[in-house]
Amino acid sequence: MILRTSRLDLREMTEDDLPALRAILQDAETMTAYEGAFDEEMVQAWLHRMRDRYRDDGFGMWAVVLRESGEMIGQCGPTVQHILDEDVLEVGYLFNRAHWHRGYATEAAAAVRDHVFRALGADRLFAQVRDMNVASMNVAIRLGMTVRGRFVKNYRGVDMPHLAFAIDAPPTGREHGVSAAPPERRRER
Ligand SMILES: CC(C)(COP(=O)(O)OP(=O)(O)OC[C@H]1O[C@@H](n2cnc3c(N)ncnc32)[C@H](O)[C@@H]1OP(=O)(O)O)[C@@H](O)C(=O)NCCC(=O)NCCS
Repeated sequence: MILRTSRLDLREMTEDDLPALRAILQDAETMTAYEGAFDEEMVQAWLHRMRDRYRDDGFGMWAVVLRESGEMIGQCGPTVQHILDEDVLEVGYLFNRAHWHRGYATEAAAAVRDHVFRALGADRLFAQVRDMNVASMNVAIRLGMTVRGRFVKNYRGVDMPHLAFAIDAPPTGREHGVSAAPPERRRER
């Protein structure tokens, strides 16, 4: 186990997670910003790339597990990405569509943000967001990020305009608050 939040556990992905990974990466709607669903070969390559990242960097996109059911409902974690002409740390988040709109992505990404600043000692965390991905922008905003610039990323042979969101590490000893609804309001939803 890498991280734990009130509802979620984050841990490394393994081959056992392939069915849950397929449910995310092979869903056309989920993968709109990635230019469409992945085929089996791309799913396998994604998992193997993450496992290489765990080995080489000590981190990568982790499995997000809903503690109450034990189900892997998404992926979230830091990776090194080339953004605005620099190699930087970025938080990624991709969730199974059945689990959207419950605050899980923001909850997981906030834990990753705090971990990156506290445990990895980073001074800035980015989120790269394709210009049409409003849900992802809203997660970045809930994390306290602001837009630092625009860039074009070539992925799957397509030039995709992106926004570079980022948040700077808080002064030592302090934590970022997440702008989420207070507990009473959250229960009503
Ligand atoms: C990006 C993505 C993870 C965002 O998911 P999301 O469900 O919109 O975001 P969250 O999990 O943070 O949930 C926030 C929503 O839950 C609601 N919510 C419900 N219960 C909540 C709770 N207990 N706490 C906080 N928010 C809660 C919020 O009000 C918000 O509502 P809204 O969707 O109407 O705005 C999702 O759209 C996704 O997986 N997309 C495909 C992959 C992708 O594009 N990833 C980003 C690449 S850059």
